Order: sequence, then structure tokens, then C-alpha cells
Amino acid sequence: MGRSRCALLAIFLDIYVVLLLLITSPVCESNTVFSPTSEKHGAAFFMFGDSYLDAGNNNYLNTTTLAQANFWPYGETYFKFPTGRFSDGRLISDFLAEYANLPLIPPFLQPGFRHYYDGVNFASSGAGALVETFQGSVIDLKTQLRNYKEVEAWLRKKLGSVGAEFTLSKAVYLVSIGTNDYLSLALTNSTILYTYSSQSQYVGMVIGNLTAVIKDIYDIGGRKFGFINLPELGCLPGIRIVKEETKGKCFEEASSITNLHNEALLKLLNKLSKQLKGFKYSLYDFNTNIRKRMILPSHYGFKEGKSACCGTGEFRGVFSCGGKRIVKEYQLCENPSDHVFWDSFHLTEMVHKQFADEMWTGPQTSLGPYTMKDLFLAH
Ligand SMILES: *[C@@H]1O[C@H](CO)[C@@H](O)[C@H](O)[C@H]1NC(C)=O
Ligand SMILES: *[C@@H]1O[C@H](CO)[C@@H](O)[C@H](O)[C@H]1NC(C)=O
Ligand SMILES: *[C@@H]1O[C@H](CO)[C@@H](O)[C@H](O)[C@H]1NC(C)=O
Repeated sequence: MGRSRCALLAIFLDIYVVLLLLITSPVCESNTVFSPTSEKHGAAFFMFGDSYLDAGNNNYLNTTTLAQANFWPYGETYFKFPTGRFSDGRLISDFLAEYANLPLIPPFLQPGFRHYYDGVNFASSGAGALVETFQGSVIDLKTQLRNYKEVEAWLRKKLGSVGAEFTLSKAVYLVSIGTNDYLSLALTNSTILYTYSSQSQYVGMVIGNLTAVIKDIYDIGGRKFGFINLPELGCLPGIRIVKEETKGKCFEEASSITNLHNEALLKLLNKLSKQLKGFKYSLYDFNTNIRKRMILPSHYGFKEGKSACCGTGEFRGVFSCGGKRIVKEYQLCENPSDHVFWDSFHLTEMVHKQFADEMWTGPQTSLGPYTMKDLFLAH
């Protein structure tokens, strides 16, 4: 009896949340009560993708330290503890969660974590849209989607279908994917980089796989998507040093393929917002905003725009931060917030905060059309 009464009441969830909680809590079984937490905090937040969003999933994988950041000095600034985030401190998603009045969103693989009302983080450092990208060391995007389906099933069990669908459609899905699909080409100096036709074919494959995942999330009920585009790969400290013959300059071919991807991503999102009813997106121009800080660091409060804080060799481009990878030697700067780059491939917390601020309120630096704040507040 308690159960059917709950189901009926759930229909009015949207409007009568407070009433519902008052009436149902003594009557319903606890697993059919809509979570007070998710109501208090508003929309849930799900992250998919790579190290720009991974809050520590890879800590729980049997993988290599190349895909892990759970050792000092990662995390030294804010957490005073290596959480697995590829930064000295918080990531963009941590700031966005704070602005949305959510707690820090834990990684899906965190042992014992099973409270998904506020969302969960599926991202895995090193992951790409292609299954082949760093295969065996990461959770690829398709597997992240499978994990999301487990969470969907959990929410259905806890909230009933109406409650789960309400939660999933109100939720915000933040995606950062693609960098590793191209990084793996640049690191192996793949011939794919050297002709326009093979570049565009490869980009088509990455975008094709990303499209399938976005559509699946949409079919399950997701409506509000945030994206960041890809950094110009060839100018990351770790890629600048790859090519002997152009030492110190950006690796042109690696940049051109990520630029192709960024054009294709913008086109795709435009297309999906026409094709899929209710699909809303926010696209942040990560690329342009990193480049601006590399060219004019002082304008944004940085002292160094090209060299990483942590690593070794030219530009500290050798990926040795923490001394637990292939090269053990590394240097660490005094003050990470003076730097744009934290390690050979990743940004400092200060940059993440600046980006999150821009994504939240969305100035001209965003490719739009919505800001992350719009998405969290939209119904
Ligand atoms: C972890 O991976 C290594 C190398 O791939 C393998 O030899 C080892 O058995 C794995 N350990 C576990 C616990 O799966
Ligand atoms: C997805 O990637 C695979 C390679 O992992 C490729 O064979 C396939 O064609 C891609 N799918 C789409 C729709 O592009
Ligand atoms: C990378 O490959 C290109 C073309 O295949 C070649 O011209 C270049 O010398 C290679 N660079 C390195 C560092 O191996």
C-alpha cells in the first residue's frame, strides 16, 4: 500500500517536493522516497571523459602510473593530498559543482560510494572516444557509458521510473574527450598526422564514437550537456619536445588535427540541437582560452605560460612529475599558481578556476549557446 501511494505522489514531484517529503517519509519504504539531498542541491552532475575531469577513477584501476596522479605533488595545493586529479588542486568540474551548490562529486570506482543522487564522475585519465586509445590502461568512453547505465538502474530502483527520469533529465552531463585519441598519434608520430585525408578520416571516427555516446545518454533521458573543446595539442609542453627537428616550436600536425576536431565538434553540437528535441548544450572554448594564457600569461595573473610547474627537461615537458613514471627526475616550481601548466599535459588549479568561472557565467570566450549556470538552472 505504501508503495503505490508513493508512486502516485511521485507524479507531482516537480511541484510538490516539500509536501511529498512530509507526507511520504513516514509511509513509504525508504527506497522509494525521492532524495531530499538531490532536491536541496538541485540538478545532479555527471562527468565523462579524460584527465581534465577524472577525480580519481584511475586510482582503482590496475594501470600504469602514466595514467595515474595519486602521488605527491599532485594535489599539493588544495587537498594537501594526492586525490588522483591531474592538477596541483581542483579541476574545472570541482569548481562547477561548488557553484551549483553540490558537494565534490566522487569517482564512480571509489569503494563504498553508492549515493548517486547528486551525480557521479565516470572520467578516466588517458581515455579516448576510441576503444583502442591507451586500451587496457583506461576506462574508455563506451565503458563509461555502461557504468552510467548501472547508475541509471540504481536511480530507477531508488526513485522509481518517474523520479529517475526526472533526475536524469534535470541533470547536467559534462564531457571532455578526444585529447587522448590524438595524443596517442602524436606520441607515436603516427603517419595519420601527415595527410589531410587521413586526419579527417580519423577525426570522423572519433566524432562518430562521441556522437553515439551522446545519443545514448540522450535516449536514457539526458538533456543538458556541457563540453570543452580540445587544447591545441602541439603546444602542450609534453608535445613540444616530441619532434627533434622543430625543437621548442609547437608540433604543427598535432595541432592541426585537434583544430579539425574542434570544428567538427561545433558542427556536431549544432546539428544535434536541431535533431534532438530538448537537447541543450554549452561549449567552452578551452583551446582559445589556453592559447591566450600561453601568449599573454601576465594578463591573466601568471608568470609562466609555456613551461610546466612540475616535470623535467625543456619546458618541463618530460612527463615525470612525482618521480613515479619512466623518468624519475623532476623539478617542482615554488608556486603552481604562477604557471598555466601544472605538468607536461595538464593545467594548474588557478587555470581551472578561471575556466570554471567563465563557463559558469559565460562571457564572449564561450562558444555557447548556454552557460553552465543556465544548464544547472534550466528545467
Ligand atoms: C595487473 O596488471 C599486470 C600487468 O598487466 C598483471 O601482470 C597483473 O596480474 C594485474 N594484477 C591484477 C591484480 O589484476
Ligand atoms: C568508432 O570507432 C571504431 C574504432 O574504435 C571505428 O571502427 C568505428 O567506425 C567508429 N564508429 C563511428 C560511428 O564512427
Ligand atoms: C615523424 O614522421 C614524419 C613523417 O612520417 C617524419 O618526417 C618525421 O621525421 C618523424 N619525426 C620523428 C621525430 O620521428
